[in-house]
Amino acid sequence: MTMQRTFSIIKPDATRRNLTGAINSKIEASGLRIIAQKRIHMSDREAREFYAVHADRPFYNDLVSFMTSGPVVVQVLEGQNAIAAYREVMGSTNPSDAADGTIRKEFAEGIEANSVHGSDSIENAAIEIAYFFTNEEIVG
Ligand code: CMP
Repeated sequence: MTMQRTFSIIKPDATRRNLTGAINSKIEASGLRIIAQKRIHMSDREAREFYAVHADRPFYNDLVSFMTSGPVVVQVLEGQNAIAAYREVMGSTNPSDAADGTIRKEFAEGIEANSVHGSDSIENAAIEIAYFFTNEEIVG
């Protein structure tokens, strides 16, 4: 077991439906701690850069439009094995494959409007956290 930090986004479909608190209560119930948090409206440039790894995928432009369609809440989560632990709380990318009790099973509208994002590796967690937060904004 190692203490880790991971990056989380509560996406526009969830903020629109007033689900920030419901999602964060699932995150906190899992033992993860929210150690940085802000509500922002992502710019087109931020969404394109953040999802640059998907630039060649057919869903890229739709994904950027969706992520800039309303407010999001960006967060840093900390806990034992936080990257895998948060991915378990989120459930599969496609909510129809997500396990019972996961955020995406309960709240996601579809594969794009899937309510939350979480980092997939230690390397990406560090990059994604640094993209949205300074060290001073992270209070563990
Ligand atoms: P996320 O974890 O934020 O990473 C990339 C996002 O692309 C993913 O969640 C989905 O919201 C979105 N997406 C849209 N269509 C697809 C698709 N066909 N396969 C994977 N991800 C998709």
